[in-house]
Parts: sequence; structure tokens; C-alpha cells
Amino acid sequence: MKNILLDKGWLNLRVDPSLDLIKEINYLKKKKNAVLLAHYYQNADIQDVADYIGDSLGLAQEAQKSTSDIILFAGVHFMAETAKILNPTKKVLIPDLKAGCSLADSCPPDKFSEFKANHPDHIVITYINCTADIKALSDIICTSSNAVQIVESLPKDQKIIFAPDKNLGAYINKKTGRNMVLWDGACMVHEIFSLEKLIKLKAQNPKAKIIAHPECEAAILDHADFIGSTTALLNYSKKSADKEFIVLTETGILHQMQKSSPDKTFIPAPPNNNCACNDCPYMKLNTLEKIYIALLHEQPELLMSDEMIEKAKKPILKMLDLSAKFGL
Ligand code: 13P
Ligand code: SF4
Repeated sequence: MKNILLDKGWLNLRVDPSLDLIKEINYLKKKKNAVLLAHYYQNADIQDVADYIGDSLGLAQEAQKSTSDIILFAGVHFMAETAKILNPTKKVLIPDLKAGCSLADSCPPDKFSEFKANHPDHIVITYINCTADIKALSDIICTSSNAVQIVESLPKDQKIIFAPDKNLGAYINKKTGRNMVLWDGACMVHEIFSLEKLIKLKAQNPKAKIIAHPECEAAILDHADFIGSTTALLNYSKKSADKEFIVLTETGILHQMQKSSPDKTFIPAPPNNNCACNDCPYMKLNTLEKIYIALLHEQPELLMSDEMIEKAKKPILKMLDLSAKFGL
């Protein structure tokens, strides 16, 4: 079926401003047996109406076991694609097809095929933040929750290509003592943090613990008290006896942190400046209005060929099997 998002008329769709969108979305979810999955980087209002909020691994696991007829994915394109690959008989909707990812864009399949051909005796471990074409060229997928364990599960002398995030790759190399060959990609949001500002911020808030996502650059990670995926950062902030945290990842996660620990202070880095550079411009394309329209019209739908689904599924299933073994 054609995606009506591409039709001119669709672009002009307006939502009646007097509608109670939360009520309408909840009504449509029930009526259509739809589940709304949301990443932690979504706006607070979307997180509050979601059925499940999680990091990339949690969302993939949730999509795989979903029994709903429709999976509405409030995240970015590669996440919805993963949901479709893992549960292809479901209708997967994405509120805005333009919600891409700078990291996924930094790894075009033709260039990556050449890179792979230049390292013939290497296993390819790929971060889930990539297109289905790249997944199809990979041996094992990983997320920031399981990347270290997946690499460590391979023999010490196994040669590995890691793509597309050079920062996550460098972090894993440091942590595991490996020497993986890294693809030169990065996330525009996690590369934006300024070390100078972070040091100043820490001096102004000496009791604050610095917590960072491994997509940040090494110079930033060197100053972190804790490094982990969005779920790991959230769990750390919940369990910690500390009361203040400087958070180096996309700002959406602060909503759950603040909700889980209302007595604690979470400071986004860099703080209160005029640019919202630590907001992911792709994640933030999704709105309640677009979610409502997507549920109402069951469009735009994420469509993939059966062939691509089959090719990209293998390395994702390997990751999920390994994650289950690790108890993740
Ligand atoms: P996680 O969801 O694994 O924490 O990764 C964050 C991210 O950048 C998603 O795009
Ligand atoms: Fe991609 Fe970075 Fe946005 Fe995550 S935060 S979706 S890696 S651009």
C-alpha cells in the first residue's frame, strides 16, 4: 500500500485543537488493538501516553513479543524497522517517516560493503542505530545495553569490525582491551557536548555525579562517574544515594529520571543555553498530533520487503539470544 504521508493532501491534515488528544489516542489504541512503544528520548507527553517506554534493546524485545495488531513506534525509523523485522505480520506505524538518525545516515551501505570487503577475516558487530541494509551486512547487532557483553562473548583473538558509532566502539575497545576496527560514524546529539562547559558545570555543582551515554566522545566519558545506555542511566539514578546528576545524553530521559526520583536534581549538559542541541531533531519530530493521525488513518506504515526482513533478522536474533543468555 502507498504511504499517504507522501500525498500532498496528507501534509495538510490538521487536528482539531479542541480534541483531547490523550483521550483520543487511548480510545484508538483500545479500539484498534494497538500498542504505543516510545523511546526515552520522546517528549514527555508522548512518554506519558505510551504503553511501554524503553531503550533500544527493551523496545526491540517488546516489539518482538507484541500480540497487538498494530505497533505504533514513537522513536526513529531504524527502531520501527527493527520492530517490523522482528514481528513482520504486525502493522508497524511511525508518526513521522522523516524521523531518521544521523548515526544511521553516517553509514551508507555501498561504502560499508567496501569497508567490509577490505577486512575479509573480520566479524561485523553493528550497533542497532543503522539501516536494515547495514544490518543485513552484519553478523551480530548490539545496543548500548549489551555491546560490551556481546564483544566479550567472542574469542579474544577474533578480529572485529564495529560500526557505525566510533565513540561507542572506542569505549568498548577501552573497556574490553580489544582492537576492533571502527567505522567513522557518530551521533550529532552526543557529539555536541562541550568538555569545557562540563568541567565548569561540575565545578558549580561539585556534589553532582556525571552520568553519560557511551555515544559521547572519549574526552567526555573520561569525566563520567557512570556510563551506560538510557535504561542503565535511569536505573543508576534511581538506585544511587546521590542527589544531583549531570546528564550527558538526549534530554528526553530526564522526564523518567525526574518522575522516578522527584527528590533528586537532574542537570542536562550543556545547561540552559539557547540552542537545544542535545535534543535529537529526529526523535523530536514526533508529536501527539502525529501519533493521533497515525492511529486514526493507520498511516504512515513502515513497509519492507520480505527479503530484507529475512536478511536483517538473523543478526538481530543473534543479539536477542545472547541478551537472553546474559539475563538482559
Ligand atoms: P539506547 O536506547 O540504547 O540507550 O541508545 C540511545 C540512542 O541513541 C537511541 O537512538
Ligand atoms: Fe540517532 Fe543520535 Fe538521535 Fe539517537 S540521539 S536517534 S543516535 S541522532
